Amino acid sequence: MTDAGIADFMAVSRLEKDCFGVDAWSFLDLIPVLTNGNVFRRKLVEAGGKRLLGFAAVEFDRADRCGFLLTIGVAGPSRRSGLGSLLMRECENACARFFSPGRMKLTVAVENEGAIALYRKFAYRTVGRIEDYYAAGRAAYLMEKNL
Ligand SMILES: CC(C)(COP(=O)(O)OP(=O)(O)OC[C@H]1O[C@@H](n2cnc3c(N)ncnc32)[C@H](O)[C@@H]1OP(=O)(O)O)[C@@H](O)C(=O)NCCC(=O)NCCS
Repeated sequence: MTDAGIADFMAVSRLEKDCFGVDAWSFLDLIPVLTNGNVFRRKLVEAGGKRLLGFAAVEFDRADRCGFLLTIGVAGPSRRSGLGSLLMRECENACARFFSPGRMKLTVAVENEGAIALYRKFAYRTVGRIEDYYAAGRAAYLMEKNL
């Protein structure tokens, strides 16, 4: 597991497409995620190879003293082998260090059962539902956890 940055632009862009399809970030969305100094970014790369297996990013909101999970994604064939959990743990630890101890927030599509299961396993609780969050008729749960 290592830091990620703008040099990973193409690989992260491909992974985002693999994970989110038509909802994947555009190039313009992705640039600040990979460059902003308030964003913690980690990547997982195949052992002995170059293929990006996972990526996660958390934005630190100093005013609200919390981290917001901007994205987490694991390449299709590598899922359910603990990589998403590794990325979550890194993000939470970074947030806890930054705010000592702080909070994490995230949003997730209400139909994304896999991600919701991961977050519940990490003890996130649902604190709200935001209608039309992703697009008209596509709602998100807002979840959070005290670290
Ligand atoms: C969500 C995601 C990051 C999980 O990554 P992962 O590497 O598969 O996660 P892990 O292997 O660490 O899973 C940990 C636990 O989460 C839960 N979980 C993860 N995926 C699940 C699924 N598809 N169905 C049910 N539970 C799931 C399980 O409890 C799992 O533990 P188990 O495998 O021992 O049962 C991955 O499925 C992904 O990239 N999805 C597409 C992108 C996405 O939806 N990101 C979240 C946006 S909000």
